[in-house]
Amino acid sequence: MNSLQIEGGQPLVGELSASGAKNATLPLLAAALLTSEEIQFRNVPHLQDVTTMMELLGCLGVELGVDDQMVLSLNGANVNEFRAHYDLVKTMRASFLVMGPLLARFGRAEVSLPGGCAIGARPVDQHLKGFAAMGAEITVADGYVRAQVPTGERLRGATILFDMVTHTGTENLLMAAVLAEGTTVLENAAREPEVQDLADCLVAMGARISGAGTSTITVEGVDELHGCSHRVLPDRIEIGTYLVAVAATGGSITIRDARPHDLEAVITKLRDAGALVSEGEDWVSLDMVGRTLSAVDIRTAVHPGFPTDMQAQFVALNSLAKGTARVTETIFENRFMHIQELNRLGASIDFEGGNTAIVRGVEKLFGAPIMATDLRASSSLVIAGLAAQGQTLVDRIYHIDRGYERLEEKLLLLGARVQRVSGR
Ligand code: EPZ
Repeated sequence: MNSLQIEGGQPLVGELSASGAKNATLPLLAAALLTSEEIQFRNVPHLQDVTTMMELLGCLGVELGVDDQMVLSLNGANVNEFRAHYDLVKTMRASFLVMGPLLARFGRAEVSLPGGCAIGARPVDQHLKGFAAMGAEITVADGYVRAQVPTGERLRGATILFDMVTHTGTENLLMAAVLAEGTTVLENAAREPEVQDLADCLVAMGARISGAGTSTITVEGVDELHGCSHRVLPDRIEIGTYLVAVAATGGSITIRDARPHDLEAVITKLRDAGALVSEGEDWVSLDMVGRTLSAVDIRTAVHPGFPTDMQAQFVALNSLAKGTARVTETIFENRFMHIQELNRLGASIDFEGGNTAIVRGVEKLFGAPIMATDLRASSSLVIAGLAAQGQTLVDRIYHIDRGYERLEEKLLLLGARVQRVSGR
């Protein structure tokens, strides 16, 4: 069942609860390697990438359990393997997040170099530069990164200035630093809410961290960490994606279990596009009924700027808006693969140089067979299919299963006419 069949052209209306954040869950699960005590996680989304990370941790010797309340428990007491194999890492680059914790607690790690992916080369040089600065000996051979702390020693604190803001690079080095000897300062650090959520969990485990959420994070290493219980924060990209889908179809929605503050840049752009957006402590609502959709320029940036993970969704939204929008992608070098597919539905999008797309709004899109290429591109194709007149078949829909929990169930709750079908 690898295609999503969509009968589009009607407004999405209803209420949803947000799921836990994929991009917080992945580093949080890796943090279980940092202690011999049990950690419990609540609000873990049921996603392919989360399953992959659990499989990898199981291969390293972490004991995993889940109860009938879907509380996930992990115990790293018997970790006895320090090599993350290519066959797992190739399916999910975030597997590289096990390197920091393995080095911090065991002084050794061997992780397959995550290859590039559809959206870019995505090197990990900043991660390795940081580990080396903390005293790890790094060798790269046969497609694997081997890191080793000299026998009898531990990682030592260092000041690390990232050449560019890196989300998982910050997380990997943060997890390396919490058990290092002395003080580590991460400069030009990523400020995403998911980084802060990881820091909150590490502090609950006994780590000494200050500045998480700012560009400078300071860590005082401790000798060991203990277990804790942590609730994964809501997925701001999932929430943003559903808000855009409802705006594109002229409907209305309320999303609960949300944290609107994490979505400020996206909410601002939705208001600029003509949507009526209200927000509370743990909910956000959007109303587009009878309102005119206007084109909005987008330029992606590191948090708290406009998130690159919402760029494709806004290209789909702009394709139906009044006016012309310029969309510039500054984070990844190849994150416009949704554009050709959107043009197959009748969108009018051209490229202006390497990283800017010009989106001329059209009156209507018309359903057609299209193909997903990566996670966020696939969500933009679903949004366009929901807004298009007629039937759209999105092939290779497995991409979307990596980041959107219970997709059909949530869309059906909003009145969408969707079903998963076998491919052609
Ligand atoms: C994280 O990827 C997210 N993944 C991505 O979400 C997200 O798009 C990205 O951050 C940007 O916000 C997870 O959190 C699991 P980066 P990450 O390191 O950490 C370059 C999704 O759709 N760079 O912040 O891999 C890199 O090539 C996914 O949920 C280096 O050059 O991204 C990119 O151009 C997609 N060397 C830029 O920095 C390095 O060592 C930002 O990458 C590291 C990064």
